[in-house]
Amino acid sequence: MNAAVQRIGVVGLGAMGAGIAQVAIEAGFDVVGREVSAELGEAARDRIEHFLARKAEKGERTRDEADAALARLRTTVELTDLADCDLVIEAIVEELAAKRALFAELDRLCRADAVLATNTSALSVTELAAATRTPERVVGMHFFNPAPLMPLVEVVRAELSSDVAVATALEVVERLGKVAVPCHDTPGFVVNRVLIPLLNDCVRVLDEARVTPEALDTAMTNGAGWPMGPCTLLDLVGIDVHVHASEALYEKLREPRLAPPPRLVAMRNAGLLGRKSGRGFYSHGA
Ligand code: CAA
Repeated sequence: MNAAVQRIGVVGLGAMGAGIAQVAIEAGFDVVGREVSAELGEAARDRIEHFLARKAEKGERTRDEADAALARLRTTVELTDLADCDLVIEAIVEELAAKRALFAELDRLCRADAVLATNTSALSVTELAAATRTPERVVGMHFFNPAPLMPLVEVVRAELSSDVAVATALEVVERLGKVAVPCHDTPGFVVNRVLIPLLNDCVRVLDEARVTPEALDTAMTNGAGWPMGPCTLLDLVGIDVHVHASEALYEKLREPRLAPPPRLVAMRNAGLLGRKSGRGFYSHGA
């Protein structure tokens, strides 16, 4: 597990997985990205190509650098194509059973010296690692949305993670040009343990102070220096993703502020998921 990582597998190429794949190819890693269908793999490649092209247009990268980065990305529908990766980062749906099944499969097919990482934001890394026969090689690598723009990666040590696996993840984060914060496997790790109850408070304040989402966002950007207001941020993260993470933390810690506000649950149930569905607190695009 000491050898320098060169090839990274990313499983799940949704908003987070595609962002992680983009960061990795831009940093010079070879990436094998796995999606369940060729169409979803193509969609992720198009998304990455779009953002790399924007960087070239804006002079942040040369056209050749953008092309070379894209050439380092291979997409596949076969999990077995990840067999020769040095590190695999899982970014599939936030469901424990689905992730555990995937980790058991990755454990069987990946090289014995490969590190297996999860991008989970609210599930227990230790519980995922327990689905493998080699829990010592499992760690958390928690990126933030949008992954290409947010510097932080929480490197999560599960109960049985080895020092070598943690060190490998930390080294990769540095080579990605990101900022690592190592932490232990506690519910919500560092940022979500703070941010989730805070965003829930923000939503409760909407009704308590009788302000609009626009007014709340104006208050928090101008009064607290947030780069985007809480309602804009919830629309970016996804109302469903936030509610799910909030429920997962509430289940583990039972603090009232961690329970998702009914207003958010109703939005989730109505399909008002934010940017991804075109409507959340705000309307998005066509
Ligand atoms: N992927 C890749 N590139 C992207 C992108 C994406 N999703 N979104 C935008 N970009 C690129 C675009 O090319 C864009 O340039 P153009 O618009 O000229 O094409 C460029 O990045 C800059 O984008 P912005 O102008 O929107 O950037 P900004 O300076 O306004 O900053 C921001 C945007 C970094 C997101 C900033 O608003 C911010 O820090 N917001 C807070 C985000 C945050 O808190 N995230 C954490 C969410 S919680 C979480 O992730 C935890 C969890 O587990 C759920």
